[in-house]
Amino acid sequence: MGGAILFDVLSLYDLDEVYISDINGELINLYCCIRDNVDEIIKILKEYQDEYIYADTDVREEIFYEKRNHYNELIKKGFSHNSIESAALFIFLNRTCFNGLYRVNKKGFFNVPCGKYKNPKICDEKNIRAVSHALQRVTIACGDYRQSLEFIDKNTFVYIDPPYRPLTLTSNFTSYAKNDFNDDSQKELAEYVHILRSKGAKVLLSNSDPKNVDPNDDFFDSLYADYRIERVEASRMINSRADKRGPVKELLISNYEDVAERVEGC
Ligand SMILES: C[S@@+](CC[C@H](N)C(=O)[O-])C[C@H]1O[C@@H](n2cnc3c(N)ncnc32)[C@H](O)[C@@H]1O
Repeated sequence: MGGAILFDVLSLYDLDEVYISDINGELINLYCCIRDNVDEIIKILKEYQDEYIYADTDVREEIFYEKRNHYNELIKKGFSHNSIESAALFIFLNRTCFNGLYRVNKKGFFNVPCGKYKNPKICDEKNIRAVSHALQRVTIACGDYRQSLEFIDKNTFVYIDPPYRPLTLTSNFTSYAKNDFNDDSQKELAEYVHILRSKGAKVLLSNSDPKNVDPNDDFFDSLYADYRIERVEASRMINSRADKRGPVKELLISNYEDVAERVEGC
C-alpha cells in the first residue's frame, strides 16, 4: 500500500483490521521496526545525524558511501530483515541520497548516489513517533501481492500502488525491488484485481497515464475497460530533471464511484 494513502486512511477511519504488504523486504523491515522499535531507531538516527550534519561536503560523501556499503553488506549477508540497524540506514540513505530515490540493482543492492541536501532532517523524531503510533494496529507482511487474497472479502477496501508503468523507454524507473515490473506484470495484476472484484471488495489502483506521452496508448483503458478510470493531476515528486517535476496526469482505477475527491489531496 502507498504510504500516503495508508496514513490518510488510518487518520480518518477507525478500522477493524488493516493489512499492508510489499515484496521489498527492506521496506517491510523499516515499517516493522518503526512500529516495534521506535526508541532504538531514533537513538541510532540521532547518532547518524550528529556524524553527518557537522561534516563538510567531502566527509559527508565518505559517510554516505560507507553507510551505503554497510547497508548493502547487511542485505548480502541476509541480515537486513528484523534489523533495526538496517531500518535506520534505510532512513539515513533516503534522507541523504540523490533526490530521495529508492532504487536497487539486479542483485538487490541500493545504488542511488549521494545527494546534496544542505540540511537534511535525518532524525525527524516527531514524525517517526507519529508513524509508529499509527502503525500499532497494522499487520505488516512481506511478499507478493497475491498473498493478500486470504485477507480480502466483500468488506475490504484494497488500495494497490504498483510500480508505475514507465511513460517513456528511457524513464523505466521500476526497480523498487530486484524483480522488474513489466507490462506482463501489469496484466497479471489486472487479473488479480478482477478476482478481488469478484470477491466483492472495493479496489482502487493508481498508475501512470500513458496518454501523457501518447494519446493513442490505451494500455490501461483496455486492461480495465469496465472499471471507473479517472485522470487526475499529480505533481511528480521524483524526477531527476527539475523541469520534469510539473503536473502530469495519473490514473485512479476503481470498481466503485467517487474516489477522486478523497484521495486527490494525498
Ligand atoms: C510505487 S511503489 C509504491 C511505494 C510504496 N508502496 C510506499 O510505501 O509508498 C511500488 C511498490 O510495489 C512493490 N512491488 C513490486 N512488485 C511487487 C509484487 N509482486 N508484490 C508486492 N509488491 C510489489 C515494490 O517493492 C514497491 O515498493
